[in-house]
Amino acid sequence: MAHAASSKSPQFSSRFAFIFAAVGAAVGLGNVWKFPYAAGENGGAAFVAVYLIGLVLVAAPIFVAEVVIGRRGAASPPEALRRQAVEHGKSKGWRIPGLFGLLAGLFVMSFYSVIAGWTLDYISFGARGMFSSFTAETASQHFDDLKASVPRLLFWQGLFILATLGIVAMGVKKGIERAVTVMTPALGVLLILLVIYALATGDAGRAIEYLFRPDFSKLTPDMALAAVGQAFFTLSVGIGGVMMYGAYLPKGASIFRASGMVVAADTAVALLAGLAVFPIVFANGLDPSGGPGLVFVTLPLAFSTMPGGDILGTLFFFFLFIAALTSAIALYEPVAAWLAERGISRIKGTVIAAFGSWLLGLLNIFSFNLWKDFSPLGFLPGLEGMTFFGLITNGLDKLILPIGALIISWFAGRLLARKAVMAELGVEGGLLFRFWIFSLRWITPVAVAILFLVNLI
Ligand code: PHE
Ligand code: NA
Repeated sequence: MAHAASSKSPQFSSRFAFIFAAVGAAVGLGNVWKFPYAAGENGGAAFVAVYLIGLVLVAAPIFVAEVVIGRRGAASPPEALRRQAVEHGKSKGWRIPGLFGLLAGLFVMSFYSVIAGWTLDYISFGARGMFSSFTAETASQHFDDLKASVPRLLFWQGLFILATLGIVAMGVKKGIERAVTVMTPALGVLLILLVIYALATGDAGRAIEYLFRPDFSKLTPDMALAAVGQAFFTLSVGIGGVMMYGAYLPKGASIFRASGMVVAADTAVALLAGLAVFPIVFANGLDPSGGPGLVFVTLPLAFSTMPGGDILGTLFFFFLFIAALTSAIALYEPVAAWLAERGISRIKGTVIAAFGSWLLGLLNIFSFNLWKDFSPLGFLPGLEGMTFFGLITNGLDKLILPIGALIISWFAGRLLARKAVMAELGVEGGLLFRFWIFSLRWITPVAVAILFLVNLI
C-alpha cells in the first residue's frame, strides 16, 4: 500500500483499484432495484430522459467535485471540508455539512439494508430450486409474504448489516478491493444475459418505447425532482461518500477519466436493468408502477421460464447482494474514518455506524407490515399516505441529496481556489474543465433552485 508521506489516509494500490471500488460503490440497488421502479412509478421515458440529463449536467460534475475535495482533503468528509475551508481562510464550521452527510449515509443504509436483505431471501429461495415453480401470481405472493414477515425481514437485514460491518472493520485494502474487483463485472455479464432473454421472450417493443420514447407532456415538477434525485442517488453523491473514496485515490490518477468510467458503468447497469425488467412487466400484464417490489417480482418470473433459471436466478441475486454490499461499504466507511480521526478504533466506529443504521432500519421494516398504513407526516400536503420508508427514500432523493449537491458545488466551484482545483484535476483549463466549473457555479444551483421552487408551488 502506497502511503503518501504527507497524508494519514491509506490509499488504493492503483488507479484501477479506485475505479473498481468507486464503480462498486456506485453500482448497487440504486441501479437494479430503484431505477426500474422509480422509472415505472414516474411514467417511463420522460423520467429516464430527465434522469440522463441530470446525470450529465449535474450529478456527474458533483461526483468529480467530491473526488477533488476528498483527495485534496485526504481525510474523512467532515475533516476534508474543514481543512480546506480553513486553508482558504473560511470557517471550520464547514465540517458541519460533512457531519450531516455521515448521518444521511446511515439513513440510506436504513432502507438499503432492508432491500439488500430481500436479495438474501431470494438467494436462499433460488438455492432451493424454487424460481422454476413461479407464475405471475406466486411470484407476487412470495414477495408479499416476505414483506409481511417481520422476523424474515429482520433476519436478512441483520445479516446484511453484519456482512457490511465485517468488511468495513477489516479495513480499506483487504476488504473493499477484493470484493469489488471480482463481483461487479460478473453482475454486468448476468444482466446482459437477462436483457437478451427478456427482450427475446418478453414484450420488447413496448418496453423500449416505454423507456426511451419520452412524452414530455407527462413531465411534472415532482417527477423531474425525483429523476434528478435518482441521478444523485445512483452515483452516491450529495452526502460525502465519494469524497471518502477520493481520499483514497492515488495522487496523479486522472479524476476526470476515473469519474467518467464510473458514470458510464453506472448508467449502463441502470439501463440494462430497465431493459431486463420492462419486457417482462408488459408480457405478464404486471403494473409498471408496482413500486419497490418490481424487480423482485419480474426477474424471478424470467428465471422461472429460462433454461437453468434456478441457478442463474440464484447467481443473479447473489451478485446483486454483492453489488449492494460494495455500495453499503461506502456508507459506513466515512463514519468509521471520521471516528478513527477522533481516536475511536475502526472496529468500534463501524459498530456504532452499524447499530445506528440498524435501529433506523426498523422504521423501514415496519413500513412494509405493522405500519404500512401509518403516515407520520401525512398531515402535510403531498405527504399523505407516505410510510417511513416513503419519507426516507423520497426525503433523501428530493431534499437531502439536492441540498448536499448545492453545498458541494458551492465548495468546489466557489470556495476552493481555481488554481488548487486545476492542480488537483491535472488540467490547465480546457473544455471539460470549463463545463465542469460552469456546472458547479451555475447549472447545479439554478437547476436545484428551480426544482425546489416549482415543487413548492
Ligand atoms: N449509489 C448506490 C446505488 O446506486 C446507493 C448509494 C447512495 C450508496 C449513496 C452510497 C451512498 O445503489
Ligand atoms: Na448506482
